[in-house]
Amino acid sequence: MSLAEEILRLKEARNAVLLAHNYQRPEVQDIADFVGDSLYLSRKAMESDRSVIVFAGVRFMAETAKILNPSRTVLLPDLKAGCGLADSITAEQLRTWKQAHPGAVVVAYINTSADVKAEADICCTSSNAVKVVQQVPPGREILFLPDMFLGDYVRRRTGRAMHLWVGDCPVHAKLRPEDLARARADHPNAPVIAHPECGCATQAMGHVDQILSTDGMVRFAEETHAPEVLVATEVGILHRMSKLNATTRFTPIDAGAICPYMKEISLEDVRDSLALDRYRIEVPSETAAKARIALERMVAA
Ligand code: 13P
Ligand code: SF4
Repeated sequence: MSLAEEILRLKEARNAVLLAHNYQRPEVQDIADFVGDSLYLSRKAMESDRSVIVFAGVRFMAETAKILNPSRTVLLPDLKAGCGLADSITAEQLRTWKQAHPGAVVVAYINTSADVKAEADICCTSSNAVKVVQQVPPGREILFLPDMFLGDYVRRRTGRAMHLWVGDCPVHAKLRPEDLARARADHPNAPVIAHPECGCATQAMGHVDQILSTDGMVRFAEETHAPEVLVATEVGILHRMSKLNATTRFTPIDAGAICPYMKEISLEDVRDSLALDRYRIEVPSETAAKARIALERMVAA
């Protein structure tokens, strides 16, 4: 029996659903029930009636699934699948900030720990961050955390004054305006799409055709008739783009933009998570109850 067949059999036996993020390894994406961005996968996790949710993504995504659908068993196949961006803020640091800014609205990107979400008023993902900030009543002080590039992009798009937490994604922050300018010069006719976490996204907004979440980029890829598209994000997404549109060439701005956390999960890990019931993600009930309020607002936005 192949590994893929073994996983399908175990998935049936355990009444499990396999969710995979757009940056997962191709072979993991290919066997998943649903592949998508953080918001899409949060919704899929929340709606799932399966007993087990196997999350092929990173820890904050699995925690989010557990918070939104607490009666399910949520498995993260490898505990090393963390997130450098989520690590850039602790709940203790956020509590200290809030004490100095009473009354401020805290908008937390989904790429945060459950402890940080529990201190936030509302969460967002890259696909609804602009909408979430637009919903904050005018005149309220806002802290956007923890990604400063996404925050700066949202600040420009909404025109809202916001404090930005000085955090970034180690993979996307490396994509600088000069990389974008070079790619543009080498491929002058190719449209450019970029993830808002990119270090190049906001400073070079004029050079980018669209700034999109990973699912937004996938939709763009599916619909384009351009012979070539330049892609500024983690390269795992190219697999899905090429599968959906075989006639366009998708060229990464940086072929080395690889998220080591997203690549932790192999097919063997997925098989073992189902076979050995590991690694169960739990969130303390008090933290989960507080974080759920912020997450439910995100899903509804
Ligand atoms: P998306 O919500 O756009 O999939 O982004 C998640 C992420 O971790 C990007 O680095
Ligand atoms: Fe975190 Fe960046 Fe990896 Fe996304 S790409 S999971 S933000 S480290």
